[in-house]
Amino acid sequence: MLGVLIALLTCLLMFHFLRQRWSQRSYPPGPLRLPIIGSIWRIGVRVHKDTLIKLAKQYGSISMLWLGQMPIVVLAGYEAVKEGLINHSEDFAERLSTPFLKAVGQEWGIAFSNGHIWKQQRKFGLTTMRKLGLGKKGMELQIEEEAHQLVETFAHENGQPFDPAMPITNSISNVICAVAFGHRFPVEDKEFIKLMEIIDYLSKFVNSSSHILYELFPWIMKHLPGPHRKAIASAEAVLSFARKEIEKHKEYHAVHESQDFIDFYLVQIKKSKNDPNSTFNEENLTYCIFDLFIAGTETSALTLRWALLLMANHPDIQEKVHKEIQDVLGSSQLLHYQDQKKLPYTKAVIHEIMRFKYILLFGFPRQCSKDVNMRGFLIPRGTVIVADLRSALLDPKQWETPEEFNPNHFLDKGGDFVEREAFLPFGAGTRVCLGEQLAKVEIFIFFANLLRAFTFQPPEGVKELNTDPIVGASVAPHPYKLCAVPRSSSS
Ligand code: HEM
Ligand SMILES: *[C@@H]1O[C@H](CO)[C@@H](O)[C@H](O)[C@H]1NC(C)=O
Ligand SMILES: *[C@@H]1O[C@H](CO)[C@@H](O)[C@H](O)[C@H]1NC(C)=O
Ligand SMILES: *[C@@H]1O[C@H](CO)[C@@H](O)[C@H](O)[C@H]1NC(C)=O
Ligand SMILES: *[C@@H]1O[C@H](CO)[C@@H](O)[C@H](O)[C@H]1NC(C)=O
Repeated sequence: MLGVLIALLTCLLMFHFLRQRWSQRSYPPGPLRLPIIGSIWRIGVRVHKDTLIKLAKQYGSISMLWLGQMPIVVLAGYEAVKEGLINHSEDFAERLSTPFLKAVGQEWGIAFSNGHIWKQQRKFGLTTMRKLGLGKKGMELQIEEEAHQLVETFAHENGQPFDPAMPITNSISNVICAVAFGHRFPVEDKEFIKLMEIIDYLSKFVNSSSHILYELFPWIMKHLPGPHRKAIASAEAVLSFARKEIEKHKEYHAVHESQDFIDFYLVQIKKSKNDPNSTFNEENLTYCIFDLFIAGTETSALTLRWALLLMANHPDIQEKVHKEIQDVLGSSQLLHYQDQKKLPYTKAVIHEIMRFKYILLFGFPRQCSKDVNMRGFLIPRGTVIVADLRSALLDPKQWETPEEFNPNHFLDKGGDFVEREAFLPFGAGTRVCLGEQLAKVEIFIFFANLLRAFTFQPPEGVKELNTDPIVGASVAPHPYKLCAVPRSSSS
């Protein structure tokens, strides 16, 4: 009797398995999907920087994974990434929603929202970033001021070894403060220090086991104490920080003209007061500001940390950058973003830093809003789409020496700067990075001002700084110390 039962059960399981294989025959290829765990057995629980590259080597430029019950399609290499982000821009425009994101209020703001709210907030966000612009009186001046503060902070180290991570993060956050609030904070400001700690905590929480458990078992975790509670409280603290600034702006609003993100948003709320479809209100503004901090701090700060590390390791390249800036601008003239055009080598080096040490593991995932046919495969509605930007930046079909730090990737024979199609660190399509322009300006102004003022060197006795990445939600350098040796202004 028992024998018959076991045989029957085996048959049923086999049947279920075969039926699943049949119904999924037109899905993109990928490792075998097992019941419950999906294809985790193949990729492992810990993600490495090569996980997706290995997958693409075996299954090609479009492959499918199952994270338990959740289907994920990975697009690898420049061609597939571009086709996904541009030809399927609308199909793949949504962000996925997860229990943790829901707990901190993801439906709102720009970076995690979808549908009508996203469209409105994003359009407004883009226009406003443009208006805040990089004109004379605007943002650029504040960024320059911030860069000078950073040069001063580095100068206080007197050429002795120090870790630049904290000063860089403070400066980059202050740029976001300038954008959102119209002013910077002194680094000793208690509220500012708290904000920095919170943002640091949130970025570390993203890849913690507490976060993963929360995403898998929210109904249990909600009731348990642990880091996830602190993370949710931290997000709430950033929001209330933003709320305080909004209140202040409302008081001042009558007396000064619009010059920061909050000002423009308050005007927009008034303008659309009678539009029933409007999603402009103070709560949504609070979430927009939250997004600017979350998306705009860690990204640019990590890029600059890699930049200084690579310069310390490549003194020849560093020297060429310094010489170019010196030859073109001299040492006294103020640096503007416009000057980039006259500094092709410096521009190429910055691009190469962003390519070679890309700070995201693959980009921000999207979700498929309907059944989509791509390259002859069916991608079912609701599939998570990972357009692997890193794989485009390292694509051997696109780059002469993908695994080497080589500014010539962006220079022609005559030494002029050349744009490269496969350079997509900000993504592409309808959800391309909202802060792309701001990021480019701040990275250029910080980088050029720092290289103009200092020679960066590894500490005495250290031959080279460690270039291995620490892979979490982002890709960070190991904490390092370097020396910022002041250049005499006459050289
Ligand atoms: C080196 C610096 C940066 C890099 C590499 C970067 C990269 C990215 C990427 C890859 C995306 C996802 C695009 C997609 O889904 O296709 C993104 C989105 C976004 N970024 Fe950036 N970013 C940087 C700096 C910034 C800054 C400074 C800001 C803020 C002012 C910012 C604000 C945003 C926002 C709001 C989104 C969400 C857009 C949306 O979902 O519609 N980013 N960024
Ligand atoms: C993607 O779009 C471009 C331009 O719109 C077109 O030339 C190209 O053939 C499209 N690719 C595919 C695979 O549909
Ligand atoms: C509001 O949205 C609906 C549906 O999208 C549309 O039909 C209507 O015209 C919109 N109203 C206004 C005032 O924009
Ligand atoms: C954002 O706006 C939408 C549409 O008006 C609204 O439903 C939502 O509640 C707002 N978000 C918050 C946090 O108030
Ligand atoms: C999370 O990322 C950090 C680096 O950002 C790393 O040190 C840590 O081991 C990671 N934690 C987990 C659980 O993966």
